[in-house]
Amino acid sequence: KVIHRADYQPPAFWIDTVELCFDLDPAKTRVLNRMRIRRNPDVPPQALRLDGEELNLARVLVGGQGTSFKLEDHQLVLENLPEGNEPFDLEIFTTCYPAKNTKLMGLYVSNESFFTQCEAEGFRRITYFLDRPDVMASYTVTLRADKQKYPVLLSNGNLVAHGNLDDGRHYAKWVDPHRKPSYLFALVAGQLVCREQRIAARNGKEHLLQVYVRPGDLDKTEHAMNSLMASVAWDEARFGLALDLERFMIVATSDFNMGAMENKGLNIFNTKYVLANQATATDTDYANIESVVGHEYFHNWTGNRVTCRDWFQLSLKEGLTVFRDQEFSQDLAGTPSARAVKRIEDVRVLRTAQFPEDAGPMAHPVRPDQYLEINNFYTVTVYEKGAEVVRMQQTLAASSESDPLGRKGFAKGLSLYFQRNDGHAVTCDDFTQAIADANPESQLAQKLEQFKRWYSQAGTPRVKVQTHWDAAAGIYNITLTQSCPPTPGQAEKLPFVIPVALGLLDADGRELTSGMHVLTQQSETLSFPGYSAEPVPSLLRGFSAPVVLEYDYSDQQLLTLLANDTDPFNRWEAGQRLATARALGFIRGGTPAGELRLDEAFLEAMRAVLRHPDLDAAFKELVLTLPAETYLAEQLEVVDPQRIHAVREAMREQLAEVLAADWEQAYEANRENGAYSPDPVSSGRRALAGLALTHLCLAARKTNDPVWPGRAYQRFKDASNMTDRFNALAALVTSNNELAPQALQRFHAMFKNEALVLDKWFALQAGAPDRNGNILPVVKALMQHPDFNIRNPNRARSVIFSYCSANPGGFHRSDAAGYVFWSERVVELDAINPQVAARLARALDRWRKLAEPLRGAAREAIARVAAKPDLSNDVREVVTRALAD
Ligand code: ARG
Ligand code: ZN
Repeated sequence: KVIHRADYQPPAFWIDTVELCFDLDPAKTRVLNRMRIRRNPDVPPQALRLDGEELNLARVLVGGQGTSFKLEDHQLVLENLPEGNEPFDLEIFTTCYPAKNTKLMGLYVSNESFFTQCEAEGFRRITYFLDRPDVMASYTVTLRADKQKYPVLLSNGNLVAHGNLDDGRHYAKWVDPHRKPSYLFALVAGQLVCREQRIAARNGKEHLLQVYVRPGDLDKTEHAMNSLMASVAWDEARFGLALDLERFMIVATSDFNMGAMENKGLNIFNTKYVLANQATATDTDYANIESVVGHEYFHNWTGNRVTCRDWFQLSLKEGLTVFRDQEFSQDLAGTPSARAVKRIEDVRVLRTAQFPEDAGPMAHPVRPDQYLEINNFYTVTVYEKGAEVVRMQQTLAASSESDPLGRKGFAKGLSLYFQRNDGHAVTCDDFTQAIADANPESQLAQKLEQFKRWYSQAGTPRVKVQTHWDAAAGIYNITLTQSCPPTPGQAEKLPFVIPVALGLLDADGRELTSGMHVLTQQSETLSFPGYSAEPVPSLLRGFSAPVVLEYDYSDQQLLTLLANDTDPFNRWEAGQRLATARALGFIRGGTPAGELRLDEAFLEAMRAVLRHPDLDAAFKELVLTLPAETYLAEQLEVVDPQRIHAVREAMREQLAEVLAADWEQAYEANRENGAYSPDPVSSGRRALAGLALTHLCLAARKTNDPVWPGRAYQRFKDASNMTDRFNALAALVTSNNELAPQALQRFHAMFKNEALVLDKWFALQAGAPDRNGNILPVVKALMQHPDFNIRNPNRARSVIFSYCSANPGGFHRSDAAGYVFWSERVVELDAINPQVAARLARALDRWRKLAEPLRGAAREAIARVAAKPDLSNDVREVVTRALAD
């Protein structure tokens, strides 16, 4: 059942054209599929094996005649096909049951409308097909449905005909001018309305942009449309990639397994990444919408025009497209400081989510070698680490002075990539080769074979740094030594190509030098002569490679960097290192959390940032946010999540109390922001005001002072936007204030008809700081709430995942009740939606690091899931790997 990358075989047949005709009915949709097929002359003659799942087969005709066929586990096998390489017609008639499709793969019903999700292997749940990305066909699609219930009928490409039929039905016929793999097919049918925008096209004509939503949501589509227009303009400006369609549609659905899907010309989105107005969406929602709309739009070139040969190459399109959406958001952010804020946020995701994946049982290379279920490999490794691997290729494409950041060289490489591969299904190697070939003098070209290890070797490399100051000679030496821990199936690793951006500062924080060193050997020493005093090293600036940098910085060095570094990323990083060192010391020490004391130097440094006259609010908010519990856990050999939680909370409370006057000043200076706009400056100010308010409410806990909780409640009531309102609510909930219950109740009443806001309401409660085991009962009660629905992925995530994956202090209970809850939910969800269940199953990935008795209890819970018969491949793969030694 396990599929290996090395076993790739080209398809035995090609499908040139597909004509699909749908009679849409929730209980029984009829699908007529007419294909023009021919043998692949490069492959020995063999039977045609078409993939199909949960389909009722009614008829198979070859050249209009009946034919013999076999059904073998999930394949329709045709052995008596015409010989020779001439094309022939194959007609297949099937039915399926969209209303019963709770997996949300293939054709399904959500809020009485039809949607599809075909990536990776959902098309086979619609009709029998060669459901693999290297088979590209031209599609013509006719949709027929009841006109009143389904007034809008959409598919990929251009609408070429539409009209009425008998019995109150109507039809629409769509032709996609571009060949595509089956995973990019889409249809939508239902009661939808749209916002439209016409924009000028290169050829003097126009593009029609549309955002489709349910009636009533039109006032929440402006930001998505703006983001789409900005995406079209950006891809043209930065990479010369123009929109190749007359019509580009986005459709939102509230039932969706992931974020969104780049179907050609008909992107389908989770409502979470489309709908926003200031009353219902936070600044984070606005930023996410911008980046997901960009991401899916950018796939039109990186994914659709050039697609993947097989699913092992997934990062070819995902890593590249995440890199592109990150660059898009940075370019839109504008100022160096706002760009740095985005970079820090991206690195934070990588380190809190991808590094643990790389160190756990599901570790896999950016280009995996094997899988049981491909849906399990839509991971932070393939996406976010993949994006870092593309980013390093940009860095290493640099050619001296004219292009220090490698942007021009990379853009040149991308052009060559399209020149060579447009319209084809290719591999990660093809991508890297194009970037290197376009820049023959670059470091990338010179170290290409070694660089490719980033695609084949799993695990997070470590770069250990040792420095030596020779005062007599005035020489500063930096020795970099790389290693990479073993991962499942890969005991030994070869050295990586690691671009290390670095600078040297003097003791007063002035920059002495800066540059890029490309580490390729296991160990290398850099020599910096000509100094009169020992410099302060600023290492791995901008997070120039996805590695763990180990250097025994002194507090003094970190304080210098935090106060002075010209690299904003490392400035932030210095603050994080100061905080991490203290947190780890406390966690390992035996002092009860209530008695821990932060030192003056640290508190003073945090105060200086908070009070700094020149730093942006957004940057201050990032510095003043302590490292996440999951990040701290990764720094430890043995993990006691309760202890980590208690220590982090104690540190937060001290920051709150000692810096109370500074928080107050920050709050007052940032709380008013005029008319709402989600721009980086005002959203940064709201973020800092929110963090300040939380700390002011935390400080009030000790003293029982009602002033700040009262002000928080007032702000919660009066806020003119969701960011301020939600931050004020969160401040009350986080500080466990007595006003929290009534605020929560009021919030629910205000937004009871706004599903996405209710998701926030559920998530806030399930993710709240645990105090004496109080959260699990809350979570169980939330699951009984009339608004809870485990079949809706967003809602399930807002309660179950917010607890099991985002609330370690509440989840890792010594009585194991959290684990029992987890195992029950994994099994319950698996019967409904295996993809969602498998994501939840990963909440215990890092069980081996847990301190006893948690470790044993977690193992038992995983074993209980693994012992269930009839598990999906999705969950089975996750729990099997978790238990493997
Ligand atoms: N290609 C989509 C994106 O990243 C993700 C779709 C994944 N869906 C799935 N069922 N695995 O933009
Ligand atoms: Zn994607």
